[in-house]
Amino acid sequence: MNIGLIGLGSMGYNLAKNLTSKDFKVYAYEKNLDIIEKIEQDKITNLFLVKSLKQLINNTHSPRIIMLSLPADKIDECIDNIIEFMNPGDTIADLGNSLYLKSIERYNRLLNKNISFLGIGVSGGPRGARNGPAIMAGGSETAWSKTKHIFNSISAKNGEQNACCYFGSPGSGHFIKLIHNGIEYALMEVLAEISIILNKAYKLNNHEQVKKFKDVLNTTSSSYLLEITTKVLNAKNENNIYFIDDIDNRIEQNGTGVWTIKAALELGVSIPSIYSAVSTRSNSQYFNYDTGVNLSYDDLKINSEVNNINLEEIIFFNFACSLFQGLNLIKESNRYDFFDFNLQDVFRAWSAGCILQGEYLRFISNEFNINRDLNYNFLYELINKKCPNINNIRDFCSLAIKHGIPSPVLSANLAYYDLVFSNHKIGETIQLQRSYFGLHPLKQKNNKDTVKPFWTEL
Ligand code: 6PG
Repeated sequence: MNIGLIGLGSMGYNLAKNLTSKDFKVYAYEKNLDIIEKIEQDKITNLFLVKSLKQLINNTHSPRIIMLSLPADKIDECIDNIIEFMNPGDTIADLGNSLYLKSIERYNRLLNKNISFLGIGVSGGPRGARNGPAIMAGGSETAWSKTKHIFNSISAKNGEQNACCYFGSPGSGHFIKLIHNGIEYALMEVLAEISIILNKAYKLNNHEQVKKFKDVLNTTSSSYLLEITTKVLNAKNENNIYFIDDIDNRIEQNGTGVWTIKAALELGVSIPSIYSAVSTRSNSQYFNYDTGVNLSYDDLKINSEVNNINLEEIIFFNFACSLFQGLNLIKESNRYDFFDFNLQDVFRAWSAGCILQGEYLRFISNEFNINRDLNYNFLYELINKKCPNINNIRDFCSLAIKHGIPSPVLSANLAYYDLVFSNHKIGETIQLQRSYFGLHPLKQKNNKDTVKPFWTEL
């Protein structure tokens, strides 16, 4: 299989290095001349730069795979520019962060021209792309059977296993990648919120926080995101100022989190923690808007001893609740007739190389392997096993709420847990309210008999 690659930005170039290091020949096109100039100096063996898309096609003979490593909004234009040169039996693989619905559309469009399409989610950033990313593929089965050896060989490894999985139908790879990103947003925010609480309520400076976080690194609550958090919290610039005290606080996003929420809304699946994380990113556009009000934390009188905080449990609880919501969304998406996900495959794809990787995920995946059913009892048992004293989590969260320290995702995780596992009458009250003003009939608990209270008469 001849490989062509379009886009040599930080992801594309590192994928090219990874491919060539595995002895694949890669013909690559990049329209930015500055990038080309830099890459030419690197002189990578087996990487051949071409000057036009036509040349790219001429140098790669059929059957060829053309990989696109481009921003999501550049994919269609690129496909339009190359299909005229391509032959039936060739494959186009989109390795970017595309919306799964677009991948379905592209698959069908190219099918008419007998060109196969693969939509492939790649996780791990440029470092992952270079050393082994997690790969989530979907689309043409024939194309996958012809190219999987390429993706398997460049992917991250979890022992003997490749963190590379083909999920089948068009759009499925990018769907799993977008849920990965939604969960990623929630976990990142969990760690950020814990850090503020440690700082504002427990008065831990950066160094002390990092020490606390590092203690968790050799437990089952450990993860790649935790590890990088210990690195960034402590990092200083050349003027000896912590980056955390120096940088713009508006959080950027590429849209994958918003797509996760749209998918959840469409399927009627509750993912409040992921929603809260995305919402915080939107809200952050106003973080530097000067309201003239600055809630002060100086007078906080914390009774709790910092040594009593069980960060291992707090992190596990929050990671498990957020992850569960994303996995549940994947499970529920099997209601679409075009998806048929097996969660074991998802755990395999996320077992190494990706941003979500970590011990907590390994533990949850092993637990899942025992009963293979993702239901609320599974979540309950997980929490029971790792966080036997749930009051620790409640205390940590209450502290934030009591003192006005923002904790949207920590609170959403706890509220999710309580909605599912506590005995409440929220549903009953709301059904009665809507019946009162809308005159809607109600059902009895047995879900059979109709109840018509007096207010349902006009
Ligand atoms: C990954 C990441 C990656 C993501 C960037 C930025 O799995 O490697 O999810 O794909 O695009 O990290 O994402 P945001 O700009 O949305 O934060």
